[in-house]
Amino acid sequence: MTFAVALPDRGTFDAWRTAARLAMSHRIPPDQIDWTGDGGLFAATALPADPGPHQVLVPQAFVKLAGSVIWHSDPARFARLYQALWRIDRHDGMPLSQADPLGRRLHLLTKGVGRDIHKMHAFVRFRECPSDGSATSPRRRFAAWFEPEHNTLEPGSSFFAKRFGDMDWLIATPRLTAQFEGGSLSFGPAAARPDLPEDASEGLWATYFANIFNPARIKLHAMQSEMPKKYWKNLPETRLIPEMLKDAEARVQRMRAAGATPARPGAAAISTRYRAAMAQAPLLPATLAEARDAALQCRRCALCEAATQTVWGTGAADARLMIVGEQPGDQEDLSGRPFVGPAGQMLGAAMAAAGVASERVWLTNAVKHFKFTSRGKLRLHQTPDRPEIEQCRWWLGLELAFIAPRMTLALGAAAAFALTGNAAPLAARRGTTETGLHDGPVLVSWHPAHILRLADPQSRDRARQELIDDLASADALATRIA
Ligand code: URA
Repeated sequence: MTFAVALPDRGTFDAWRTAARLAMSHRIPPDQIDWTGDGGLFAATALPADPGPHQVLVPQAFVKLAGSVIWHSDPARFARLYQALWRIDRHDGMPLSQADPLGRRLHLLTKGVGRDIHKMHAFVRFRECPSDGSATSPRRRFAAWFEPEHNTLEPGSSFFAKRFGDMDWLIATPRLTAQFEGGSLSFGPAAARPDLPEDASEGLWATYFANIFNPARIKLHAMQSEMPKKYWKNLPETRLIPEMLKDAEARVQRMRAAGATPARPGAAAISTRYRAAMAQAPLLPATLAEARDAALQCRRCALCEAATQTVWGTGAADARLMIVGEQPGDQEDLSGRPFVGPAGQMLGAAMAAAGVASERVWLTNAVKHFKFTSRGKLRLHQTPDRPEIEQCRWWLGLELAFIAPRMTLALGAAAAFALTGNAAPLAARRGTTETGLHDGPVLVSWHPAHILRLADPQSRDRARQELIDDLASADALATRIA
């Protein structure tokens, strides 16, 4: 049997979510739903009206991704999202990971949507609509015409509502119209391209554009990819482009004759960093070994500058349990292996007490470079900050994707944040399981270095026992989860 679902062009996300939940509650497989609404060649029926018995737990990461993907113009987006939900529900791989073909596709879609919204915010140009005398509101009225590539008017309009909250405005597009009147935003049907009046702000934009225009930097391809030609006709400033291009060569000559302006101090260093970052723009590694090789060259943040080397994970590539620490310490940085120093010894003892054999686990860190401050010959550990953890999440995500552990144990706050995105204090979370950004379960525990730092022997013994208990439970859960 095929079920047909027809979704509205407004409030699409909520409508899709309701339909997907309903379908999942009846365990309707992806290949039995036609999201185009007509059932294709097959006689189609509507989804059952009442929810079925199956309860679906939807991770936040999925809701976030779906909330963006849904606005893409790809006709298969609804089906792809449902496929991902289906797989999440069945613990079938990691459909949200970029290392999974479906996850990769969803991430590309969300990128396309983000770019489109960004372009709308940059290129919508309002013109003032003169009052016809009948308006009762003292607010000025503006209107714009815009042609987005995807269905981004709805998610992109709140930006204008915040920015131009004291005016009434309308943005018309070929698919939908957004209207902001008296402080409330609503969406209506598509409009034909309006014949909007000119106003003074066009002149302002034109002057602005002419002033910042640098004729020596004319790169039509680059210009068009930043500001594609299809937007030009709606941008008043672009009317000046032909005129400026005509004069460009003469202006370049004049600039050359005037001599170069010296670069600002630090410009060379910024440019080197920028080039390095571009050179290592993420090409998706195909294997765990390729991921490791790429990580050894990592320059995603500044920690690579002072550290000796990247410390990649070690252990079984098919481990059911992954243990994640914070970052390498002094000894790990020198040896290139995680957990070989004092914290590693304490962890090793706790693992032995919990009956967790080190050959069966994958041991790694949230951050792969040692962060420290120098005091004479000493290198003192520093806690990695949020951007550093976020940059390094790329590598942790690849380890998770290739190893696909059933269970992950987060040691300490940095690991817990890297894995779950949750930065709440650890005390209330220790010993509990959360859903990771990769959609797998994450058990939160103490970091061994934290235990070693506890001055009170009783507190230290209790925390050590809790770590042993958490290791034992994580190991048991890893074995039990299919
Ligand atoms: N602390 C960690 O979090 N990881 C290591 O590898 C060593 C110390």
